[in-house]
Amino acid sequence: MPTDSALRPLALLVAAASLVDVVRGAYPLTTDSNCGCYRTNATTANYFAHHQFFDFRSLSHYVNVTSPIGNFDANANAPPTSPFFNAQQWTNMWDIQSWNNTAQMKLNNTDISDATVQMVNSPNNIYIERNTDPGANGQTFLTMRTVRHSNFQSASEIESSSQGYQFVSVRMFARTKGAPGAVTAMFTYRPPPTPLNIMLVQEADLEIRTRDPPNYVQYTNQPSWNSTSDIPQATRNVSMPGGRRWSDWAYYRMDWTPGSTTWYVNGQLSSTITFQAPRDPAQIMFNSWSDGGSWSGPMPINTEAYLHIQWIEMVYNNTDPGAIKTGKCVNVCSIDETTKLGQPVLITGACASAKYGQCAGKNWNGCKSCAAGTTCKYQNDYYSQCL
Ligand SMILES: *[C@@H]1O[C@H](CO)[C@@H](O)[C@H](O)[C@H]1NC(C)=O
Ligand SMILES: *[C@@H]1O[C@H](CO)[C@@H](O)[C@H](O)[C@H]1NC(C)=O
Ligand SMILES: *[C@@H]1O[C@H](CO)[C@@H](O)[C@H](O)[C@H]1NC(C)=O
Ligand SMILES: *[C@@H]1O[C@H](CO)[C@@H](O)[C@H](O)[C@H]1NC(C)=O
Ligand SMILES: *[C@@H]1O[C@H](CO)[C@@H](O)[C@H](O)[C@H]1NC(C)=O
Ligand SMILES: *[C@@H]1O[C@H](CO)[C@@H](O)[C@H](O)[C@H]1NC(C)=O
Ligand SMILES: *[C@@H]1O[C@H](CO)[C@@H](O)[C@H](O)[C@H]1NC(C)=O
Repeated sequence: MPTDSALRPLALLVAAASLVDVVRGAYPLTTDSNCGCYRTNATTANYFAHHQFFDFRSLSHYVNVTSPIGNFDANANAPPTSPFFNAQQWTNMWDIQSWNNTAQMKLNNTDISDATVQMVNSPNNIYIERNTDPGANGQTFLTMRTVRHSNFQSASEIESSSQGYQFVSVRMFARTKGAPGAVTAMFTYRPPPTPLNIMLVQEADLEIRTRDPPNYVQYTNQPSWNSTSDIPQATRNVSMPGGRRWSDWAYYRMDWTPGSTTWYVNGQLSSTITFQAPRDPAQIMFNSWSDGGSWSGPMPINTEAYLHIQWIEMVYNNTDPGAIKTGKCVNVCSIDETTKLGQPVLITGACASAKYGQCAGKNWNGCKSCAAGTTCKYQNDYYSQCL
């Protein structure tokens, strides 16, 4: 069993090398049940009460790349494409959508929608697909497809069944492929009180338009237009950091926090918008669509586009009954500093400052004392070290 004195030379060496390296991997892996809250590694840290991880990378026995359905109604009525989407792990969180824009189009009000193509969301467009990339680090991913049929568009959308999210750091490892004229998105959504009060929508978006250049993505706190003009403060059209393209796999993160929305790509800050930051509880959504309107543009007939997702991870607060946590958070965890995707690490815990003896029912080999300039840091279930 290492002691603090045995570890001290190593700690000094590492500290001298790089502070960041000390942090990553310096914390013990733990489980969600042991976490009181999660701290994100933004410029200003935020704390969230809950954590979810959806991993689509090892679902070989659920692969089912369905053929598009050429009939409007049959798209809405299609069953889920595999038992994966009927399992509780999925249904506890997500609702697969089948709504259509027919009623919206009938309003004939371009402030609400300037769609030129009838669109229907279909469970048939959401499926698990094999990852055939050379050297792929996962066997499968989730596909969200949109298809331009001869006289309508089929699309795909998943919505969190809870409407109670109030602040979230949501991430996905994803790419967008396919024909121009589609939009893929990861967003928060709180509908306006009635469809006619469109200016009262609250929504934070990451969107990719397949007709945009391959390195440009769009970030928005909706609404981004009103009856007379665009609202430029609400939106940013930015090139992805590091020359990335949205057709390549990238790690997207959107932090909706009080007063702002911040977007990251592959860990790099990409943009922040404080204007119109959503305030009230909302849903979390992902989609892939086109309606021939001015935002998506039209998709050529018989073409398809896809949002491919390897995993989704989020830390969040939620205002639903039973989801509100009160009291001081003792065990602070992180999904950023972890060495194992999807599994949190404990960054400060009840045992962090404990000395030798018992802590949380375990034999505890804490720091006896630490040299000036170092502090005792929890390392794993057996010991702390001075860093
Ligand atoms: C399309 O949406 C309308 C409501 O706007 C609904 O009444 C109709 O049943 C839907 N059609 C299909 C095929 O789901
Ligand atoms: C694949 O999806 C189709 C269409 O939903 C369905 O008929 C079929 O049973 C599915 N196959 C498997 C193996 O789940
Ligand atoms: C839709 O609105 C436009 C102008 O507001 C009008 O010219 C057109 O006739 C309307 N179409 C229908 C089908 O109501
Ligand atoms: C629409 O947005 C523009 C730009 O922000 C603003 O100047 C204008 O007052 C807004 N108009 C309405 C009707 O809200
Ligand atoms: C974003 O900027 C690129 C490059 O200037 C441009 O081609 C594209 O049309 C813009 N997209 C939007 C939605 O404005
Ligand atoms: C935050 O953590 C992410 C991994 O979740 C990493 O990619 C990013 O570089 C980290 N950012 C900072 C500022 O440490
Ligand atoms: C989330 O809720 C906790 C209380 O459980 C609170 O301390 C924290 O500040 C909230 N986070 C955000 C981003 O509002």
